[in-house]
Amino acid sequence: MPKTKAPGAKSVLVLHGPNLNLLGTREPEVYGTVTLDEIDRRLAKMAKKTGAKLATFQSNSEAELIGRIQKARADGTDFIIINPAAFTHTSVALRDALAAISVPFVEVHLSNIFAREAFRRESFFSDLAVGVVSGLGAKGYELALEYALDRMAGEG
Ligand code: DQA
Repeated sequence: MPKTKAPGAKSVLVLHGPNLNLLGTREPEVYGTVTLDEIDRRLAKMAKKTGAKLATFQSNSEAELIGRIQKARADGTDFIIINPAAFTHTSVALRDALAAISVPFVEVHLSNIFAREAFRRESFFSDLAVGVVSGLGAKGYELALEYALDRMAGEG
C-alpha cells in the first residue's frame, strides 16, 4: 500500500524499462552486479531522509510504461527519473507520453550509451530531458535523485 503524500511533500517517480528487472545477472560486465531491488532500496532510503515520496515502476511493456507516465499527470508526480532501456532508441510513443505530461525528467543509463554500438547513441528522450546521466552504473540513479530532491527543495 503506497504511503499517502504528506501535504507539501514532493513526489518522484522512477521508471525502469525492459530487461532492467534482470540487473545483477544481465551482462554484468556492462550493467554491473547491483540488482534493481537494491537500486530501488537505495533510492527509497534517500527519499525518506528528505520526506519526499518515491514510487518505482519497472516494465518490459511499452504500453505499461506509457500508462504509468500518463497516470503521473494526475497523481501529483513532481519529477521523473527514467531509464527507458532499449526503448531509448526506438520509442516515439514513450517520448510523446513524457512530452504530453510536462513533468520534468532526467534520463539515466547504467552504461555509457555513447561509447557502445552506434544505434545506442541515438535517444528519443535526451532533448526533452532536464539532463542525462550515462555510464555511472547504479550510482547514476542516486545522482539523478539527488538532483531531483535538491531541485524540488529549491522550488519550495
Ligand atoms: C541502458 C542502455 C540501453 O542501450 C540498453 O538497451 C538497456 C540499458 C543502460 O542503462 O545502460 O537496456 O539503458
